[in-house]
Amino acid sequence: MSSLANKQILLGVTGGIAAYKSADLVRRLQDAGASVQVVMTPAAQEFITPLTMQALSGYPVHTQLLDPEAEAGMGHIQLARWADLVLIAPATADFMARLSQGMGNDLLTSICLATAAPIALVPAMNQGMWRNAATQTNLDILINRKIHIFGPADGGQACGDIGPGRMLEPLQIIDLTSQLFTTGSLAGKKVVITAGPTREAIDPVRYISNYSSGKMGYALVQAAIEAGAHTVLISGPTQLAKPARAKCIEVTTAEEMYAASLLEAQGCDLFIAAAAVADYRPIELAPQKLKKGDSESITLTLIKNPDIVASIAALERKPFTVGFAAESERLVDYARAKLERKNLDLVIANNIAENHIGFNSDDNAVTVIDKHSTVEISQRSKQQLARELIACFAQKLASQR
Ligand code: C5P
Repeated sequence: MSSLANKQILLGVTGGIAAYKSADLVRRLQDAGASVQVVMTPAAQEFITPLTMQALSGYPVHTQLLDPEAEAGMGHIQLARWADLVLIAPATADFMARLSQGMGNDLLTSICLATAAPIALVPAMNQGMWRNAATQTNLDILINRKIHIFGPADGGQACGDIGPGRMLEPLQIIDLTSQLFTTGSLAGKKVVITAGPTREAIDPVRYISNYSSGKMGYALVQAAIEAGAHTVLISGPTQLAKPARAKCIEVTTAEEMYAASLLEAQGCDLFIAAAAVADYRPIELAPQKLKKGDSESITLTLIKNPDIVASIAALERKPFTVGFAAESERLVDYARAKLERKNLDLVIANNIAENHIGFNSDDNAVTVIDKHSTVEISQRSKQQLARELIACFAQKLASQR
């Protein structure tokens, strides 16, 4: 799986002749596995039509900041949250100037101000404009702000000049974009992640389970792979595609997940329990389908499942152990109690009372809690959140050892 697999890339197109290459770039990004939505400035639409970009990307193209229809659906804040990366190609001198000054006078600059995702610019302009002191000062400001700059290349230009200012070719842009998602922060580490729900059978056709989609755990697996870890996914039943570069162990019940986790704990550096494990299972599995009788109610006796993450945290050679806490009230208090009770190194708490985040949704907002600190991470896509969490775990792991 390419490191752009499942990435959501917001491609900003500004008004330069190199905009014609952006159409090819959309295709190349999709070939590498990314979903692409396009935002165009008014000047960009003089060079290439929104219809072309819509046909290629498969999404409506966004062009206006104050568009009542767009605001109702995908306004600039939603687009800013959707993006794993804001990639602007071509980026003109004018756009760089506006971005460096923090302006928000069109849709694309507003998205850049609002987003928590990384931003990469692919400059394209006349060599004199590139060399101009104003552009170079703006470039310094953008680099200081940790905005990535791809290129420009040196060579012949559309205006006949020769010099720096040519936009990089789409394949070069894809290469640099992929590198942004590859950190190496967990190189040489073994990371084990549990994900999804478990199912506890009642009889041959019925089970107890929960609404977990597995999305958060799978996003963590992808981020761990990109961080260079030898990654093991222990997954309950989900609808999600299995990541190609991880060892995947499919389980159904909590007891199976427990056994697989203990086995994989050997040599494990970081254990992340993102699964929504059923706390109880029916004490006995009915060998035949239970029949509807005359009585108005029936009673199922349940027995407690092993606590997987607590068992891992109790091992003599304990990996850095991270648990999740889905709470509907007193989030930090309950999560901190879980941290202590289960002897965890870190708890990721999320508020399931807010129904646009968490269980079965694409976004999440969490609080990261350890013995000494409580840090909130605001709402963003699970992919983006996963990368930030993995970077945080890697840092804590490095400082612990
Ligand atoms: O105790 P509670 O279910 O609220 O704790 C949630 C955390 O514990 C999650 O990280 C979950 O994956 C883990 N857990 C577990 N085994 C269980 C129950 C929960 O690993 N049986």
